[in-house]
Amino acid sequence: MNTVKTILELRAAVARARSEGKRIGFVPTMGNLHSGHAALVTKAAQRADFVVASIFVNPLQFGANEDLDKYPRTLAADQEKLLQAGCHLLFTPNVEEMYPDGMAAQTLVSVPHLSEGLCGASRPGHFEGVATVVSKLFNMVQPDLAVFGQKDFQQLAVIRALVRDLNLPIQIIGEPTVRAEDGLALSSRNGYLTDAQRATAPTIYRTLSRIAQAIGQGRRDFEVLIAEGRQQLVEAGFKPDYLEIRQALNLRPAGAHDRDLVILVAAVLGATRLIDNLHLNLDEQ
Ligand code: PAF
Repeated sequence: MNTVKTILELRAAVARARSEGKRIGFVPTMGNLHSGHAALVTKAAQRADFVVASIFVNPLQFGANEDLDKYPRTLAADQEKLLQAGCHLLFTPNVEEMYPDGMAAQTLVSVPHLSEGLCGASRPGHFEGVATVVSKLFNMVQPDLAVFGQKDFQQLAVIRALVRDLNLPIQIIGEPTVRAEDGLALSSRNGYLTDAQRATAPTIYRTLSRIAQAIGQGRRDFEVLIAEGRQQLVEAGFKPDYLEIRQALNLRPAGAHDRDLVILVAAVLGATRLIDNLHLNLDEQ
């Protein structure tokens, strides 16, 4: 696996692979990789002949009071994991390479509606930062397909919309969330948790599962289910940011007659904000 830092080197390496007739798969990341990321690369390697990954902690998607500076940088360990998972080329640009004229001068990509509410409400500008950097990376790599985790359900919806709206010829693949044995969704931010918080953290998944089970058994009193879920989180020591039941396809609020649902949660434990979701299609049960 080759590691390159400049757009010039990246484009040259991708052009070589393409001239050999290879299909290009892409997995953008912010590094500090875990088995969830490895699953994205493995999926890309199954569907493409040449897999490109990127590691870039994108300042444009972090708010002023967020964890940009303390976000873990673990390049050597990440390179090893990418290699094992079947990655061929790693792109690790710095901020100057990505934003040569500074971030204030950067053209922004904004995806309306889907970026609003949920994480978009508590992290203003976040999805604009994600949509902008992903658009730039797509233009640099020009992949045939790209793989994203379903753990970031709203992010995946935003990226699907931007690809559709900007007519990008890229297939977007959503990969199921990888969980620890106790149900906690793998996330780079789990590393911020103390041992006691780590023991509490799976409550977030238990809360989602309990709501999904109740809906599966026929309950449609969504407001009551949400109130009970919030209570469960608060009792465990979380500060819930949101807990909502939405339509999976468009993230609009769900009503009693909707059948393709997603239950989404963000909650703060200590100083760490965790997100998770559960997709529940009642027609596939
Ligand atoms: O999900 C992430 O790690 C990031 O939001 C992404 C897609 C790499 C863009 O910076």
